[in-house]
Amino acid sequence: MIARLDFAPLDGITKRVFRRVWHAHFGGADRYFVPFISPTDQHVITPRDRRELENPEGLPQVPQVMAKQAADFVWAAEALADMGYEEVNLNLGCPSGTVTAKGKGSGLLMDPDRLDRFLDQVFSAARVPVSVKTRLGYHTPEEFPRLLEIFNRYPIACLTVHPRVRPEKYRGAVHMDLFALAMAESKNPVCYNGDLTSVAGVRALEAQFPGLDAAMIGRGAIADPALLRRLRGGPAASKEELQAFTQELYQAYQDFYGQAAPASQRMKEVWFYLIHLFENGERLGGRMRRSRGPRAYEELEARIFQELELLEDPQGELA
Ligand SMILES: Cc1cc2nc3c(=O)[nH]c(=O)nc-3n(C[C@H](O)[C@H](O)[C@H](O)COP(=O)(O)O)c2cc1C
Repeated sequence: MIARLDFAPLDGITKRVFRRVWHAHFGGADRYFVPFISPTDQHVITPRDRRELENPEGLPQVPQVMAKQAADFVWAAEALADMGYEEVNLNLGCPSGTVTAKGKGSGLLMDPDRLDRFLDQVFSAARVPVSVKTRLGYHTPEEFPRLLEIFNRYPIACLTVHPRVRPEKYRGAVHMDLFALAMAESKNPVCYNGDLTSVAGVRALEAQFPGLDAAMIGRGAIADPALLRRLRGGPAASKEELQAFTQELYQAYQDFYGQAAPASQRMKEVWFYLIHLFENGERLGGRMRRSRGPRAYEELEARIFQELELLEDPQGELA
C-alpha cells in the first residue's frame, strides 16, 4: 500500500499561489515539491526565489535545487535549512536543452563519474537530508543500472524515479522493468513518479509493487484536483467545488500579478489539464487554448461549467 503521496513540482504551474489554493480546496498530498531554484555562484537567494519559498501557511514542502557544481548545491541546501526546510531535493531529471547544456538537471546523468564526485561532495558536506529526483539516464534506459550503483553509495533520503530518459521528456511508455530494478536493488527508499492519473492506475502500481511506499503525482493531480483525496477514499470533485477552486485560483493570481492578463494565462495552463475532467471538453478546451486576453478566458470558463458535464470515472488523460 502506498503510504505517502507527494505532489510533483511543475515549474510555471505548481508555484506558491497554486499550491496554496489547491491545498485549501482539495488537499491529500503529504508533501509538496517546490519547483526548482537554480542558484548562481554568487550565492544569493533572489527576492523572487525567497517569495516562492516562504511558507507562512506551513504547507509540508520540499524545495528543489538544480546545480552543476556541488558547492552551489551545498550552499543552497544550507540556505534552505536556515529557512526551516528539513529536506532538500536534487533535480537530476529536467530534460530541457537549455538546462542540460549547462550540465544541470538530467545533464548531470551524462557523465556518471562526474555525478559520483558531485554526490560525494554533496553528501560529505550537507547538514540537511538530501533526496534525489532522477530519470533512468541521459540517452538510454540501459544507463540506469550504473547510475543506481552510484546512488547506492550515498544515504539519499528518497530516490524518486521517473522511469524515462531525457529524449522521452514526459511522453511515451514508462520503462517499468527498470523501475522494478530500482525497487529490487536500491539501498535507499524509492518513490515512483510518472503518468499516475487515476485511482485504478495507482491501485495497479500497488499490486505490481507491494513494497512501494511512496508515489509522486503531478499532471494527474492538476487534471483531477480530487485525485489524491479519492486515493484516500474521499469523494470525487463536484462541479461546484471545481468552480470554487478555479475562481479562487484566478482571483489569487490576479492579486499576485496585480492584473488579469498574466492571471488568465496561468489559468489556461491549469485548464490544459483540467479540461479532461469534462465530457466532450476538446472543443471548448481548444478554444480556450487559442483565446487571447482575460475576457475571452472568463467567458470560456463560464461556458465550460454551464455546458459540460463531468466525466463519471475520469481516467486522467495527460493531454
Ligand atoms: C511543465 C512542467 C514543469 C516541470 N517542472 C519540474 C521541476 O521544476 N522540477 C522537477 O523535478 N520536475 C519538473 N517536472 C516534472 C514533473 O515533476 C513530473 O516528474 C512529470 O510531470 C511526470 O510526473 P506526472 O506524470 O505525475 O506529471 C515538470 C513537468 C512539466 C510538464
